[in-house]
Amino acid sequence: MPRILRWVLVLAIAHCIGCPSAPSEPMVIAHRGASGLAPEHTLAAYDLAIELGADTIEQDLQVTRDGVLVILHDETLDRTARGPAENCTGPVHEKTLDELGSCDFGVWFDDRVPGAGARFAGQKIVTLEALIQRYGTRVLYYIETKHPEHAPGVEQALLSMLASHQLLPREGEEPHVIVQSFSSESLRNIHALQPDLPLVQLLEGDLDEPLDDEFGVIAEYAVGIGPPRSQVDSALMAAARRHGLVVHPYTVNERAEMTRLLALGVDGLFTDRPDRLIELLRQP
Ligand code: G3P
Ligand code: CA
Repeated sequence: MPRILRWVLVLAIAHCIGCPSAPSEPMVIAHRGASGLAPEHTLAAYDLAIELGADTIEQDLQVTRDGVLVILHDETLDRTARGPAENCTGPVHEKTLDELGSCDFGVWFDDRVPGAGARFAGQKIVTLEALIQRYGTRVLYYIETKHPEHAPGVEQALLSMLASHQLLPREGEEPHVIVQSFSSESLRNIHALQPDLPLVQLLEGDLDEPLDDEFGVIAEYAVGIGPPRSQVDSALMAAARRHGLVVHPYTVNERAEMTRLLALGVDGLFTDRPDRLIELLRQP
C-alpha cells in the first residue's frame, strides 16, 4: 500500500471507536527535510527527503516583516543564515523577504565539515508558497505554526495559502497537509476554521499525569500527538490509543532509539535521517 494511503488509514482508525491500535507501519517524517544530510529547510533537504522515500516533509513556519510565510526553525537568523549582517542576523520577523533573499542558508552546513567543499552554498530562503509550487500535491506537507503568539493571523494566512493551492481536505481524497504546533491555541484556531484538517499537538518537557486528562482534551481538536521521544513508553502509547490519538515522537536520529519506538508501535517518527528509518523499516 502506498505510504500516503496508509496515513488515510491511520486517520480513519484513529477516529474508530473501539479500535485497539493504529496500523503498524509508521510514517517517515523528514524533519526539516533530510536535515541530517543537507541544510535544514532548504530545497536541497526537501528534494533529498523525497528522493529517499520519506512519507512526509516537515516545515517550521515563520512570518517576515512584510507578511510572507517562510520556512525556518529559529526565530533568529544567526545559526543558519550567512550574508550581510543587516539582513542575515537577528529576528526573522524584522526582515523583509527581499532582505532574506540576500542570505545563504547552505554555507553553515558545509562549514560543519572542514574540507567537504561547498556542496550546499547558494541555498536560499524557502517560502511556503515556493515549496508548494515546487511539489504541488505530490507530497504530504507537515507544517508547524512556530511561535504563533508572535505572528497574529498566521493560521488564517496558512489556510488561505492552502486553499489557493487546492491543498485543503476534500472528501474522498487523501490529505495533503498535516498541521502541528506546540500551541494548543493555534491548533484550536485552525480547528475552528477548518475542522477536517488533521492536526497534531506537539508536547514538550515532562508530561503531566494523568495522561488521560490531557489526551482527552487534545482529542477534541487533534488526531495525534508529537511527544519528545524520551517521554514515549508503553503507558503513553496506551493512553494515546484510549483517546484515538496517533503518536509521532520527535526527533529520532539514532537507530537504537528508532528500534525502541517502533517496537512500542508509534505511528511515525520525526527524523533528520529518513534514510536510516527507511532502511530499518525495510528490514524483514
Ligand atoms: O515538530 C516536531 C519537532 O520538530 C518539534 O521540535 O524544535 O524541531 O521544531 P522543533
Ligand atoms: Ca518542527
